[in-house]
Amino acid sequence: MIPIASPRIGKAEIDAVVGVMKSGNLTQGKVVKDFEEKFSSYIGSKYGIAASSGTSALVVGIEALGIKEGDEVITTPFTFIATSNSVLYSRAKPVFADIDGKSFNIDPVSIESKITDRTRAVLVVHLYGQPCRMGEIKRICKDHGLLLVEDCAQAHGAEYEGKKVGTFGELSMFSFYATKNMITGEGGMVLTDNEALAGKVRVIVNQGQVNRYDHVMIGYNNRMTDMQAAIGLEQLKRLDSMNKKRAENAKFLSEELSGISWLEVPFVEKNAKHVWHQYTIKVPEGKRDKIFDCLNSKGVGARIYYPKPSYLQPAYQALGYGKGICPVAESVSKRVLSLPVHPSLTKDDLVKIVETVKSCR
Ligand SMILES: Cc1ncc(COP(=O)(O)O)c(C=O)c1O
Repeated sequence: MIPIASPRIGKAEIDAVVGVMKSGNLTQGKVVKDFEEKFSSYIGSKYGIAASSGTSALVVGIEALGIKEGDEVITTPFTFIATSNSVLYSRAKPVFADIDGKSFNIDPVSIESKITDRTRAVLVVHLYGQPCRMGEIKRICKDHGLLLVEDCAQAHGAEYEGKKVGTFGELSMFSFYATKNMITGEGGMVLTDNEALAGKVRVIVNQGQVNRYDHVMIGYNNRMTDMQAAIGLEQLKRLDSMNKKRAENAKFLSEELSGISWLEVPFVEKNAKHVWHQYTIKVPEGKRDKIFDCLNSKGVGARIYYPKPSYLQPAYQALGYGKGICPVAESVSKRVLSLPVHPSLTKDDLVKIVETVKSCR
């Protein structure tokens, strides 16, 4: 089976983790600090605060922004559930804007149509590694006095108009979950240029503690460990080359698949550097599940990201969200199919993916 993801863990990562274990410091120490500094500087942000996962990073970030009960946060429903869950954890309300059916990212026009007196923030997701249209989104946030938050869980190193994602908003979040473009197993980070906000995040992530046993608020234990950070430091050194390989794989797939009349290869935004966390094609509605089964039965580990918009999940239906909020997201979720694009694919793997897709009509 050609897997949808394949973590690239080499001797460097293994040696780095063993080094931490031998040091005896199994919790958070100077390796996390080093990782925070190197990752934030790679992205181009002043401050980085590591966390135990992308979700826990987003939760503390949203809380640090002061988003609370009664506030609305406009976000996309076409993403992993953790994006909108992080709004609900702070008792605010996720308001779902529709997506652009070509890029799969939140549609700036729909964002504008969802703004009310209660809107505090816009939370965008650079889905599959493709940047959102940040120029337009930044302008909307500025015009309406809204905070801009970026979920960059799938977009390490992606750029919009030459600027890395994670640097457009007040605050951004990255995930280093084991399938991401760079990994620490589980792990995440909050980035911001705002010193006061960074300070708040650092307190919330660590039990609301400002000095030892001096707890000024109810925080969490959402800390990253030095072992995770040791993996992250090694991965960061290879991120650009791994992203380059993803882009080459995507180029090959698009060249080989673009002649097939019954599928649509991924669209890439103008002015965007896509980092191909996923390579997602669109197939006809009603045929997708059959094609998915066929690919998997023939050894190509295709996946469906995501089979329904977040608000159609039972947990959200129970909160009163109904059908029809975002028609484009509802339609697209019935047509998407992600093919392996990760950097460990060989030329033979790529050829097999193409041939298998052709045979699965
Ligand atoms: C878009 C998006 N947001 C948030 C998350 C949550 O990150 P984590 O799994 O590290 O908690 C993920 C990762 O799965 C994701 O893909």
